Order: sequence, then C-alpha cells, then structure tokens
Amino acid sequence: MRLPLVGSTFVRLCLILVLVLATGVGCSIFERNVPQPSAAPLLPGQTADVFTTARPTFAAALDDFLGRHPVVVEQPFQFPHNIHVGQKIACTEYCHETVSEGPVAGLPSVRTCMGCHRTIAANRPRIRQITEMQQSGRDFAWNRVFGYAPSAHVRFNHAPHIRANVECSTCHGNIGGQQVAQRNVEMTMGFCVNCHRERKAPDDCLTCHF
Ligand code: HEC
Ligand code: HEC
Ligand code: HEC
Ligand code: HEC
Repeated sequence: MRLPLVGSTFVRLCLILVLVLATGVGCSIFERNVPQPSAAPLLPGQTADVFTTARPTFAAALDDFLGRHPVVVEQPFQFPHNIHVGQKIACTEYCHETVSEGPVAGLPSVRTCMGCHRTIAANRPRIRQITEMQQSGRDFAWNRVFGYAPSAHVRFNHAPHIRANVECSTCHGNIGGQQVAQRNVEMTMGFCVNCHRERKAPDDCLTCHF
C-alpha cells in the first residue's frame, strides 16, 4: 500500500533530510553531555581508536566474517623469533611453556624477556626499550596471529598434540625462520580432520566444536 503523504520523491527526500538533521542535532547534544575520558598514556601497540568488545575494527569483523586471516599482524614489539630459535632456545622453554600442559600456549611478558636480557645484550637499544618498559610497569599487548573467530566455536587443546609428538611447525609453519610470527598455514577444518583420521584421533564434531 502506498501512503499518499510519502508518495512523491520530493516529499521523501524532505523526510530523509529532516531525519539526517535530527540525528545530527541529537548526536551533538549527546556528545556535549558525555564526559570525555582522561587521556591515559597509550601502551605500545595501543591506538586511540574506539575499541569495541567484539572486534578491534570493522575491517577485523569483516575478515572474520569472510574467514580471511592476515599473514602478518602488527605487534607492539618486533620480536625476532629467528634470532632466538637460532640461539637454540626451544619454543616451550620460556616463552610458550604452557603448551605441553594445557590448551593454551602462553605468550611471554616483559618479565620473561628480562629473565635473560637483564644480562644478555643489555646495552643494545632494543633491549633498553624492554628494560624501560619493565621499569615503568608496562607490558606487551601482543596481537593474535593464530586463532579462530568466536563464531566458529572451535575448541583446541595443545597438550595432546605435544604428547603425540606433533611438531609446532606442522601447524604454525617455520616461525623459527621468521622475525615477527606470520600466519602462513591455514588451519582449516580439513587440515585438522585429515590428520585426525590418519592418526586415528577422535573426529566427531564435539572433539573440536562446542
Ligand atoms: C632464554 C633467554 C632469552 C629470552 C627469554 C629472551 N631473549 Fe631475546 N635474546 C636472547 C639471546 C641469546 C639473544 C642474542 C644476543 C646476541 O646477539 O648476542 C637475544 C636477542 C634479542 C634481540 C636482538 C637484540 C639486538 O638488537 O641485537 C631482541 C630485540 C630480543 N632478544 C628481544 C627479546 C624479547 C622482546 C623477549 C621477550 C619476549 C626476549 N628477547 C626473550 C635471549 C633471550
Ligand atoms: C595441531 C596443531 C598445533 C600444534 C602442533 C601446535 N599448535 Fe599452537 N596453536 C594451534 C591453534 C589451532 C591455535 C589457536 C588456538 C585458539 O585459538 O584457541 C594455536 C595457538 C598458538 C599460540 C597463540 C598464538 C596467538 O596468535 O595467540 C601460540 C603461541 C602457539 N600456538 C604456540 C605453539 C607452540 C610453541 C607449539 C609447539 C610446542 C604449538 N603451538 C603447537 C595449533 C597448534
Ligand atoms: C598432524 C596431526 C594433527 C593435526 C594437524 C591436528 N590434530 Fe588434533 N590431535 C592429533 C592427535 C594425534 C591427537 C591425540 C589423540 C590422543 O591423545 O589419543 C589429537 C587430539 C586433539 C584433541 C583432543 C581430543 C581428545 O578428546 O582427546 C583436540 C580437541 C584436537 N586434537 C583438536 C584439533 C584441532 C581443532 C585441530 C586443527 C586446528 C587439530 N586437532 C589438528 C593430531 C592432529
Ligand atoms: C579435528 C577438528 C574438527 C572436527 C572433528 C570438526 N571440525 Fe568443524 N571446524 C574445525 C575448525 C578448526 C574450523 C574453523 C576453520 C576456519 O575458521 O578456517 C571448523 C569450522 C567449522 C564450521 C564453520 C564455522 C564457521 O562459522 O566458520 C562448521 C559449520 C563446522 N566446522 C562443522 C563441523 C561438523 C558438523 C563436524 C562434525 C561432522 C565438525 N565440524 C568436525 C575443526 C573441526
């Protein structure tokens, strides 16, 4: 049914104009009344952009929706994996030690770094940067490289894989050859299920989904 009042294009355009103006005025009144948060100093890697609880940006939400994952993720510190793996420091030794015991791989804090760097290469500029962070009580806000959108309802557990001697590189690629960790392996459902069938690991839906 057509409403006579909104029948003509001209009237419709007027209505839209009124609505746009009304929202604009509404917003500016709203903004005036909202107390502005005090400007706390930003941590390394933080931006002043509005952060929603769901996704940091609209682009990130779109990527999740389309199942796209960036290969390189911006990090608060360019941690050189290659130098450390080259020094024969095992992935699980200090930095990701919890992988063998539980579901989640821990990420190192400034304190972990300083366990070595209090003495190792302590005078180099990049190590001074970490020392200053510790002294001022700041820590890294690492951004995720691997991981699934909450909507995929994936449940993963590292420990059984480490017990079954699946190498880190099978799932994560050659991180030891990279500086900042990259997502070069796509851990799709097929990737997980194929190995589970080969290795006679459970492959019912609830093994990996909740
Ligand atoms: C188990 C000891 C150990 C831990 C833990 C450790 N590192 Fe290192 N790191 C080293 C060694 C050894 C080197 C090589 C030093 C050299 O070149 O002589 C190094 C080198 C570096 C370098 C290169 C320094 C340069 O400019 O030449 C950076 C940057 C660095 N580490 C950052 C970190 C950060 C950040 C952490 C924590 C997330 C960390 N390290 C944890 C042992 C460690
Ligand atoms: C069977 C595949 C598999 C193996 C083997 C594996 N991982 Fe993972 N890893 C994953 C998955 C899947 C995730 C994402 C988990 C999630 O979102 O809960 C992950 C997440 C991580 C993360 C967090 C990454 C981030 O961006 O937040 C780290 C660190 C990690 N793994 C380290 C390791 C280390 C170290 C090893 C070897 C000791 C290892 N993983 C072995 C599959 C694996
Ligand atoms: C290269 C082989 C391989 C890949 C790839 C792999 N898995 Fe596994 N998975 C295993 C093996 C082997 C076990 C151990 C089974 C056991 O303990 O009997 C296991 C166990 C598990 C368990 C625990 C099952 C249980 O109830 O005991 C979960 C959960 C799991 N895998 C999820 C995943 C997910 C999710 C992925 C993909 C991100 C994945 N796996 C990729 C080989 C693999
Ligand atoms: C060995 C682990 C594993 C098993 C078993 C498994 N899945 Fe998955 N599934 C995954 C992973 C990991 C993803 C996420 C893939 C991605 O995001 O790239 C996924 C994604 C999905 C998605 C897409 C969700 C989304 O929104 O992206 C559906 C639907 C799904 N699985 C259904 C099932 C069903 C139904 C079964 C049982 C027949 C099953 N899965 C068994 C690991 C598994």
